[in-house]
Amino acid sequence: MAPRTWFITGTSTGFGRLLTEALLKRGDRVAATLRRPERLDELAAAHRDHLWVRRLDVTDTAELRTVVQAAFTELGRIDVVVSNAGHGVLGATEEFTDEQVTRQLETNLLGSIQLARAVLPHLRAQGGGHLVQLSSMGGQMAIAGSSLYHASKWGIEGFYESLAQEVAPFGIHTTLVEPGGAATEFVTTGMAVADPLPAYADGPVAELRAMLADPGGYPFADPAKMVEAIIDAATAEHPPARLLLGADAYRAVTTALAARLAQAERQRDLASAVSS
Ligand SMILES: NC(=O)c1ccc[n+]([C@@H]2O[C@H](COP(=O)([O-])OP(=O)(O)OC[C@H]3O[C@@H](n4cnc5c(N)ncnc54)[C@H](OP(=O)(O)O)[C@@H]3O)[C@@H](O)[C@H]2O)c1
Repeated sequence: MAPRTWFITGTSTGFGRLLTEALLKRGDRVAATLRRPERLDELAAAHRDHLWVRRLDVTDTAELRTVVQAAFTELGRIDVVVSNAGHGVLGATEEFTDEQVTRQLETNLLGSIQLARAVLPHLRAQGGGHLVQLSSMGGQMAIAGSSLYHASKWGIEGFYESLAQEVAPFGIHTTLVEPGGAATEFVTTGMAVADPLPAYADGPVAELRAMLADPGGYPFADPAKMVEAIIDAATAEHPPARLLLGADAYRAVTTALAARLAQAERQRDLASAVSS
């Protein structure tokens, strides 16, 4: 298979870093973007011809547009764009600071939307391409203590549901990747934590806090295996619109969808009644 060129955000650690390394090993070319480009110095020295590195904070829309333009100008065709940069914020909704609200949505939701908007003219001009968006199992279900994170991931899922239909006629594929828990910096240093209010000292938010403070028993999946599945999906002839990764993700999403469908069915008569 001919080598491909990929553009990836958030390549310092976790999925972004592992994906970059796996693609370079395959002989693909990677435009790797990250907030601290020096973190890829060693990798860049070892893969001079295949690794293009630029500083990018996805919350800086002007910088994002400049870096996207430079990547297409300097590298030519880009086959796959991976919107990966993101973080989580833990706490009860009323515990979050305004800054935590803004930062969560600016990074996970607005950064991803602006990336898609920046690359689309180029993908159309080159006759197609593939947008891969890191969502989460938390883009289709929700737990207490993560309302902002769910807002960002459900938001980006809705955006992609619509976008996918808009761009299919241009030969542009989209895939929402929905991992369950994976052993990356996301659950350790990457997670912002709100200061607790006494009112939430017990209950489901406290349970999530306790689990994340000591996640010993949680079956975190191997992110390297997930990255291989992402590469397979992104290089498939007919890429999936969604990619659920992890036994926990499968269980949580199928349970949530079944409950939502059952609830919708219980409202069938009521929904119809107002139409007649
Ligand atoms: N790990 C999981 O359990 C899990 C599960 C479901 C979905 N996900 C999703 O997977 C994606 C990657 O997360 P991960 O698990 O690989 O975690 P990670 O190891 O913490 O990596 C997150 C990456 O995003 C970058 N980033 C954060 N804010 C950024 C910004 N404003 N601009 C540019 N880069 C930024 C980080 O860069 P810095 O080094 O500069 O902070 C880092 O490179 C996220 O979208 C996350 O929501 C993760």
